[in-house]
Amino acid sequence: MVYCAHRFLLLFKIRFKMALIPFSSRALSQLAELPEMHQMMRQTCRDYAAKELAPIAATLDKNHTYPAKQILELGAMGVMAVEVPEELGGTGMDYLAYSLAMEEISRGCASTGVVVSVNNSLYIGPILKYGNEEQKKQWITPFTTGEKVGCFALSEPGNGSDAGAASTMAHQDGDEWVLNGTKAWITNSWEASATVVFATTDKALKHKGISAFLVPMPHPGLSLGKKEEKLGIRASSTANIILEDCRIPLGNLLGSRGAGFKIAMQTLDSGRIGIASQALGIAQAALDCAADYAHKRTAFGAPIGKMQAIQFKLADMALAIESARLLTWKAALLKDAKKPFTKEAAMAKLAASEAATFSAHQSIQILGGMGFVTDMPAERHYRDARITEIYEGTSEIQRLVIANQVLKEYQP
Ligand SMILES: Cc1cc2nc3c(=O)[nH]c(=O)nc-3n(C[C@H](O)[C@H](O)[C@H](O)COP(=O)(O)OP(=O)(O)OC[C@H]3O[C@@H](n4cnc5c(N)ncnc54)[C@H](O)[C@@H]3O)c2cc1C
Ligand SMILES: *[C@@H]1O[C@H](CO)[C@@H](O)[C@H](O)[C@H]1NC(C)=O
Ligand SMILES: *[C@@H]1O[C@H](CO)[C@@H](O)[C@H](O)[C@H]1NC(C)=O
Ligand SMILES: *[C@@H]1O[C@H](CO)[C@@H](O)[C@H](O)[C@H]1NC(C)=O
Ligand SMILES: *[C@@H]1O[C@H](CO)[C@@H](O)[C@H](O)[C@H]1NC(C)=O
Repeated sequence: MVYCAHRFLLLFKIRFKMALIPFSSRALSQLAELPEMHQMMRQTCRDYAAKELAPIAATLDKNHTYPAKQILELGAMGVMAVEVPEELGGTGMDYLAYSLAMEEISRGCASTGVVVSVNNSLYIGPILKYGNEEQKKQWITPFTTGEKVGCFALSEPGNGSDAGAASTMAHQDGDEWVLNGTKAWITNSWEASATVVFATTDKALKHKGISAFLVPMPHPGLSLGKKEEKLGIRASSTANIILEDCRIPLGNLLGSRGAGFKIAMQTLDSGRIGIASQALGIAQAALDCAADYAHKRTAFGAPIGKMQAIQFKLADMALAIESARLLTWKAALLKDAKKPFTKEAAMAKLAASEAATFSAHQSIQILGGMGFVTDMPAERHYRDARITEIYEGTSEIQRLVIANQVLKEYQP
């Protein structure tokens, strides 16, 4: 109930306050000081994460438990469909607000963070952008009780970075599409009520043959592989989705035929801002843990925080995090202003994920032996951080995306 009240307040602020301020004067000042409604979103999520997520994150991780109750509560807070307009049952806020929420949630529990991010950016994102009115009503609105989450099925066992090589087939049979193939590594697949599936109608066309389809879950012809045993984010499910003669109505094509690769790439552009935010949350949690420990632990007669070797580590962590946060906010602001943000989103994701692996590494070092055991969260941050350099485009792929954009800017 408390969180519902917060949500109402947030909506109130947007409607009656933010609408009055033109975007251009807002954008820059947002990097210095967040507007009131964004601060509220951040504080609400920060409080929730500290109270409800951080204390159980280790248990969820150890037991591989999906945070069902917490996801429902986050749904009630408006965090599961941040960007969805209110008339479709969402919160009607912007991507900066989503980024702030993602960081704070992930600071408490990175697994919960990825569940939130997949529903927001990977599942809802493409439907919101490419769905017709009927599809939006069918695939977004009825989910508003907050019980359902969606997933995004692009990768395959044989091709991840090279998503254009996807070989899952879609062929038309009368008034149905028939899907055949295996999608790999699908986050949320065990809990999801629907998925966006990418499949090709014509392999010879390579990436231009790929289309996006909406498939309810469970559904005849769709089955799940085993839950993957993972290094980190272990409270979220990851599994194959196997499609064998999986029949869906023709109307379940999302966007136009052949637009699937473009839809996937645009979805990932936005999704990367979410993963950058998740990485920031993990990095910040690692710093929280290390700085606190540096005050409390003494060695050679003084708190270790007095030693320059420890101070320099803390400084480098804080620097990496704050730089990546500014990049992430900038990417979100550009997206909210409907300006190009492909390069900035890739930069944000790369910087934030490297800040996360770096900070988690340093945090363990600062904790010494305590960093290596499960009594403290540092080892979990270290394991959780690692995935942020892999999914939604590896660090190598982010560098390719950035370089492509840079070369375009210098095209003679
Ligand atoms: C926990 C988890 C959750 C995931 N969730 C989802 C999901 O919900 N939906 C989904 O569709 N996918 C998901 N993925 C898949 C993820 O996006 C892929 O694993 C990722 O894109 C990398 O693909 P790959 O594993 O096939 O590696 P590969 O593409 O085989 O890459 C192997 C190595 O080669 C490098 N490489 C590849 N191509 C190039 C290149 N051109 N230049 C330089 N280096 C290159 C890579 O960077 C990497 O280091 C998830 C993965 C994991 C582990
Ligand atoms: C541990 O996992 C099992 C099986 O998923 C679940 O029933 C149980 O409630 C979980 N326990 C905790 C403490 O989360
Ligand atoms: C996930 O997104 C859908 C689509 O907007 C939304 O209706 C649903 O409530 C979200 N899931 C949860 C658990 O809140
Ligand atoms: C993509 O991966 C699938 C297996 O998942 C494989 O059958 C297919 O040949 C791969 N595509 C290319 C172009 O390598
Ligand atoms: C799809 O797969 C099923 C079962 O795996 C097979 O019987 C069917 O012929 C396949 N359809 C196509 C078009 O490949």
